Amino acid sequence: MSYKILVYDTKPYDKEYFELLKDERFNIKYLDAKLDNQTAYLAKGYDAICIFVNEYVDKEIIDILLSFNIKLIALRSAGFNNVDLKYAFNKIHIVRVPAYSPYAVAEYAMALLLTLNRKTNKSYIRVREHNFSLIGLTGFDLKNKTIGVIGTGKIGRIFIDICLGFGCKVLAYDLFPYQDDRITFTTLEHLYKDSDIISLHIPLSKETQHLINKNSMALMKDGVYIINTSRGALVNSLDLLNNLKSKKIGGVALDVYEEEANLFFEDLSYEIIDDEIITQLISLPNTLITSHQAFLTKEALTNIVKTTLDNVIEFFEKDTLVNEVCYQCSKKGNCAKKGRCF
Ligand code: NAI
Repeated sequence: MSYKILVYDTKPYDKEYFELLKDERFNIKYLDAKLDNQTAYLAKGYDAICIFVNEYVDKEIIDILLSFNIKLIALRSAGFNNVDLKYAFNKIHIVRVPAYSPYAVAEYAMALLLTLNRKTNKSYIRVREHNFSLIGLTGFDLKNKTIGVIGTGKIGRIFIDICLGFGCKVLAYDLFPYQDDRITFTTLEHLYKDSDIISLHIPLSKETQHLINKNSMALMKDGVYIINTSRGALVNSLDLLNNLKSKKIGGVALDVYEEEANLFFEDLSYEIIDDEIITQLISLPNTLITSHQAFLTKEALTNIVKTTLDNVIEFFEKDTLVNEVCYQCSKKGNCAKKGRCF
C-alpha cells in the first residue's frame, strides 16, 4: 500500500529532500505548477495534495478536490492564511508543519538587519567593480539600540535572544506576554514610539493585516528600521513606500511582500514586472528585499519534508492528527491536540 501524493509548486530543493526522506509507503508526483482552479483537476486519482505558501485554497478548489474524494491538504508551511479554513471545516483536513526551524527564520531576520544597517550588500557589489570607496556605507552600532519585537512565539523568542546577544534593549508585544526579566512587554503604541528597529513575527490574520500602515508608521521614531520576515500583508506596502520616500522610515528589509504570490520563487529577470510598488521599493537605496528565503536551511527543509510525510501517515493510519489546523483552532487555540478537529 502506498499513498499517492501530488506535490504542487515543487522546486529542486523540495524534490531533493522528498526523494531523500520518503520511503516505500509514498508514491509522489512533483509538479512545477502551483495549485489553482485549473491545476486542481490534476489531483484526480491522488490520495492527498501538498502545497506551499503562495497557493490559495478557496471554495472552488476545495470542491474540486472533494469531487476526487481527496480529504487531505498537506501544507509545507507553518502559516495557513492561504486556506479558506471556514469552508474547509468538516470537509477536508488541513495539516501543516508548525515549526520547521524557527532558528532559520530568526537568524535570517538578524542577517537582514545587519545587511540593511552595515550595507554589506552594497560593499560586495562595489568591491567586485574595484570600487573601494566607503562613502555612503555608514551604519550604526546595534549595542544599546531598542528593538521592538512584535510577536513573541517560536521565532520571535529566538530573535529576541539573538538581539540580546548583540546588547540590544528589547521591547515586545504579543497577545500572550510571558515573564522574562531581560525584556519589556509593552503596548503596540509604546513599542512604535520607542523602538529604533521593529521586527515582525506574528501570523497574518484579519486582525493583523496591514498592522503596519500610515497611522502606525506616524507613531514610530523618525528613521526607524522595519524588518518583516513574517507575512507580506502585515504591512501596507503603499504606505510603506510613501513613508520611505518621505524619509520617515530609515530603511526596510522584507523577506515577504503582500503581492508576492506571482513574483517570489520565480526567475522573472526577463519579464516586465507589472507591480509598481515592488519595483519602486526595490529601487530605493535603503530597502533590502529577498524572495521569501528565511526558511531555506538544510535543517528546515529536512523538518518540512519529515513532518509532511509524518502528517500523511498519521492521517491515513491513525486517529490523531496533531498538526491539523482548522477554523476552530485558528479561532480558539489548538483544538487538534487530543485527536482530529472533526
Ligand atoms: P508562533 O505561532 O510560534 O508565534 C506567533 C506569535 O504571534 C504568538 O506568540 C501569538 O500569540 C502572536 N500573535 C498572534 N496573533 C497576534 C496578534 N493579533 N497580536 C499580537 N500577537 C499575536 O509562530 P512562529 O513560528 O513564531 O512564526 C511566526 C510567523 O513567521 C508565521 O506566522 C509565518 O507567517 C512566519 N514565517 C515566515 C517564514 C519565512 O520563510 N519568511 C518561515 C516560517 C514562518
